[in-house]
Amino acid sequence: MEEYVIKGGNPLVGDVEIAGAKNAALPVFAAATMTDETVYIDNIPDVRDMDVMLEAIASTGATVKRVSRHKVLINAGNINNLTVEHEGCKKIRGSYYLLGAFLGKYKQAEVVLPGGCDIGSRAVDQHIKGFRALGAEVMIEHGLIKARAERLRGSHIYMDKVSVGATINVMMAATMAEGMTIIENCAKEPHVVDVASFLNSCGANIRGAGTDVIKIRGVERLHGTDYTIIPDQIEAGTFMFAAAVTKGDVTVKNVIPKHLESITAKLLEIGCEVEEADDCIRVVASKPLAHTQVRTLPYPGFPTDMQPQMTVALALAKGTSIVTESVFENRFKYVDELIRMGADVKVEGGDTAIIDGVDKYTGASITVPDLRAGAALVIAALAAEGYSTVDDIKYIERGYEDFHIKLQNLGAQIEMVETDKDVQKFKLKVG
Ligand code: EPZ
Repeated sequence: MEEYVIKGGNPLVGDVEIAGAKNAALPVFAAATMTDETVYIDNIPDVRDMDVMLEAIASTGATVKRVSRHKVLINAGNINNLTVEHEGCKKIRGSYYLLGAFLGKYKQAEVVLPGGCDIGSRAVDQHIKGFRALGAEVMIEHGLIKARAERLRGSHIYMDKVSVGATINVMMAATMAEGMTIIENCAKEPHVVDVASFLNSCGANIRGAGTDVIKIRGVERLHGTDYTIIPDQIEAGTFMFAAAVTKGDVTVKNVIPKHLESITAKLLEIGCEVEEADDCIRVVASKPLAHTQVRTLPYPGFPTDMQPQMTVALALAKGTSIVTESVFENRFKYVDELIRMGADVKVEGGDTAIIDGVDKYTGASITVPDLRAGAALVIAALAAEGYSTVDDIKYIERGYEDFHIKLQNLGAQIEMVETDKDVQKFKLKVG
């Protein structure tokens, strides 16, 4: 079993190239099945969730070819199976985007109920509500969500909860519905906008993505395109916080600074210097970190996917900080691991962490509970005194390309190892 072994204490210094956004690429892959023509998608991150989603798409009869490490070709002209039961789909969230895509194009879809990180109940009621409003019959049977319609008709849909997944799924289904669909109370995340831009580049007519109201005039067919995915906001934010936590100086490159505004604001608040240029951001942490309060919110609020990284920073800040998680119910599971490294954090009511800053972390043997918490715990280990081992890194590999290699390039003492012997070798090497 692979794990990371880490010797903490080195400030991270240097440049890091940010990959394409996982959470944009997943729905864009699904949307690519809505045309019979060939689609090229570039700047995809080389992470596990991409492989699972592409395998799921290939299992429907579509042609899927990796043109290069970061570029894929999808041609869905030969789809012959609208039931997606691929084993891996139970583990990822993005597989449910095939529902909206297939329902939109073929008026029929059956997709295994999605999995994803264990961070809360993760309901799908808003997806179902949206599909039904467009005229589909939807039911859950034998572990599958099944949707079908004679025809889809444009509708006026109000989302009761701001949901990235439901906004994208309903937007995709409406893309080929008859007439106009208006979706209100939409998620505004950059990846929602990216999926709309992708679909528009295929001939869709979607306006307003990135605002509360998205208007979609249905079109009869979509055509092929050559599209480049946006940079990953959360990968960039993770490295920005890695600079803060390790008292480093890191420049994240190939980013869209606008997407990182809430993250930048919080870094400034806790005492980091942040310099922005066109497509890169430098974070310098030369002063002790200051305490603050933060509440996770849908975009443009502070992202729930950055909450563990923020907590890891605040647990080393002077004074008492409060972190409130308002998007998912169960996103503080990693706190027990952080406490094992010396943090003083109490979780109250499941959604609020009260953090009394400590002077340092000490290395420990850590188990990763989910993707973002995993990245945050690695950052904590990089700042900790002594050695840590981090296992269950498969979660981290789901969403971060070459995570430990990028960290090594910034001066981190981290290696991926398989046996105790490898751990000993690492310790001898780094001293
Ligand atoms: C996406 O999940 C991301 N996943 C998550 O990233 C991210 O944390 C989340 O959006 C919020 O930004 C992917 O894009 C694959 P939601 P999603 O629907 O779409 C509730 C990561 O680490 N809700 O916006 O599942 C839901 O329970 C992952 O990369 C309903 O009540 O998130 C949650 O409390 C983790 N009914 C809230 O809305 C619904 O029908 C937000 O969920 C749908 C959602």
